[in-house]
Amino acid sequence: MLFDLNPKENVEDLYDRKTELESLSSSLKNGERLIIIYGLRRVGKTSLIHSFLNKREYPYILLDMKEIYHVSGSVPMKVLYNVILKEFVKFAEKIGEYANIDLDADFRLPDLLKEINEWCKSRKLIFIIALDEAQYLRYGGKVRYDGIVAWGVDNLSHITFILTGSEAGMLKEFLRYEDTDAPLYGRFRNEIYLNRFTKGEGIAFLRHGFKEAGKNISNDELEDTIKNLDGISGWLTYYGYFRTIKNMEHGKAIEQVFKEGSELTLKEIETLIARSRKRYIYILKSIVEGFNTWGVIKAYVESKAGSVSDTVLNSLLQTLVKLGIVEKKQDDSYVISDPIAINAIKRLKP
Ligand SMILES: Nc1ncnc2c1ncn2[C@@H]1O[C@H](COP(=O)(O)OP(=O)(O)O)[C@@H](O)[C@H]1O
Ligand SMILES: [Mg+2]
Repeated sequence: MLFDLNPKENVEDLYDRKTELESLSSSLKNGERLIIIYGLRRVGKTSLIHSFLNKREYPYILLDMKEIYHVSGSVPMKVLYNVILKEFVKFAEKIGEYANIDLDADFRLPDLLKEINEWCKSRKLIFIIALDEAQYLRYGGKVRYDGIVAWGVDNLSHITFILTGSEAGMLKEFLRYEDTDAPLYGRFRNEIYLNRFTKGEGIAFLRHGFKEAGKNISNDELEDTIKNLDGISGWLTYYGYFRTIKNMEHGKAIEQVFKEGSELTLKEIETLIARSRKRYIYILKSIVEGFNTWGVIKAYVESKAGSVSDTVLNSLLQTLVKLGIVEKKQDDSYVISDPIAINAIKRLKP
């Protein structure tokens, strides 16, 4: 079902994304060891990797770093060690083998990865470790996960890492592969940018879903949906869900996407901006109201929240960009490109 609200888990359910699936396949065939998928929230990153991995051409483990972070308040090595070990043992059992891994009392992840690598090497297997929302690996405390990934990429011939990130800037800042002092500096990687659908693709996506659900929707309504929700597959899926499963009329369904989508987005934004909430809110409101160049944003924020230094404002703005909430355009203006996020920001209470 295309209009299922959960991330898709099979290529049969995944709409299009052929180029990206192809790119993943060829990376693995070529023995590449690091693949990174960037894309804003709800464009289908999790759906893409899960569907790809579920083709079962390669043994894999898929872990959500955001979830681990939210459960533990950090990303402890012990937790990663244990889940990777558990999943690996399960995989070995499934193919009727025994994973004779020496347990490490200190939960040293590199040692585990080395053993998995040896095991896979002797069986001519490539094992995929997919870390969803990998920017949360920056919360490793004393553990430097960028160093561990770099070490893995250099030394483990039978493990491939796939990382994804909704917060492209945060993920890049964590990986620092352009920084000569960073562990991952200069490492070869396949970077895939997952974009929202174009208008045409979005309409085709909706058509496909409605056909599957046996429902006829007029062109006008399809066009209006894209006009309101843009080509963000997550929101289009919500719309389709409300129209088919919930049997709503067009206008009501759009309204409902805005309502539920804004609530969801509001929660996400709140957790991200908590540390300097008031200033972040006025920056976001300024941009939404069209006061979206540096000087004008500064004036707006200062009129609402008192004086703020250039350095502080710069850093707050940059953080919003790195989080994937705000985009900086070529002409140096700032925009928010998700219509639901715009709606949510209008509703944010300072
Ligand atoms: N290409 C696609 N085909 C089918 N459904 C999709 C596609 N891309 C996204 N979706 C749907 O949109 C929603 C968000 O997708 P998800 O994979 O969770 O995005 P992300 O991980 O980028 O936040 C889910 O309901 C998912 O089923
Ligand atoms: Mg996801």
